[in-house]
Amino acid sequence: MNPLTPKDYENQISHVLISEQEIQEAIKKAGAMIDKEYEGKPLLLVSILKGAFIFLADLSRAVSIPCEIGFMQAQSYFEGKESKGKVNITLDLTQNISEYHVIIVEDIIDTGRTLNLVAEKLRERNPLSLKILTLLDKPQRRVVDLKADISLFTIPDEFVIGYGLDYAEYYRNLPYIGVLRTEQEESNV
Ligand code: IMP
Ligand code: MG
Repeated sequence: MNPLTPKDYENQISHVLISEQEIQEAIKKAGAMIDKEYEGKPLLLVSILKGAFIFLADLSRAVSIPCEIGFMQAQSYFEGKESKGKVNITLDLTQNISEYHVIIVEDIIDTGRTLNLVAEKLRERNPLSLKILTLLDKPQRRVVDLKADISLFTIPDEFVIGYGLDYAEYYRNLPYIGVLRTEQEESNV
């Protein structure tokens, strides 16, 4: 595969939707909220790879109470537009979560299908409590009844990239959330 040139890489970004500063300010507030709510409790922050890796890295450093970190990776299968599917946990937690208050740290909730299945699996393991914290929420796209307990930004139905989120595995390394250029915009360049 030919890598894009730095210029092409940048040219495919249409605009910034949420700036680095806005993200960092929201994370500071979320960290302070977690400090207050979970002080004195065994806390496990769980992120589902890969999209949430940067968010978890920053959020965990905005939390100052003791906490543990865990990672999961999941592959889900859905037939057509069915909202009920199957999930295969391909990387699992090492902690026994019945001893922890768990916060699932997500990058984005779109249809909500995968997270719904993962949350169901975690609930079966009887955590002391389970909450969902998402950086981005696209409520217009939801096909299952799933609500985040905390959502830092609600966004319109647009495909976003950066800050962990990818397009064909690219752009996870942007420090902000951006929108890709559409084909229409491309023809105007
Ligand atoms: P779901 O549809 O809520 O199950 O979302 C599944 C996954 O799709 C998310 O965790 C993201 O990794 C990815 N995803 C959804 N919307 C976007 C987007 O706008 N940009 C990049 N990835 C997305
Ligand atoms: Mg994700």
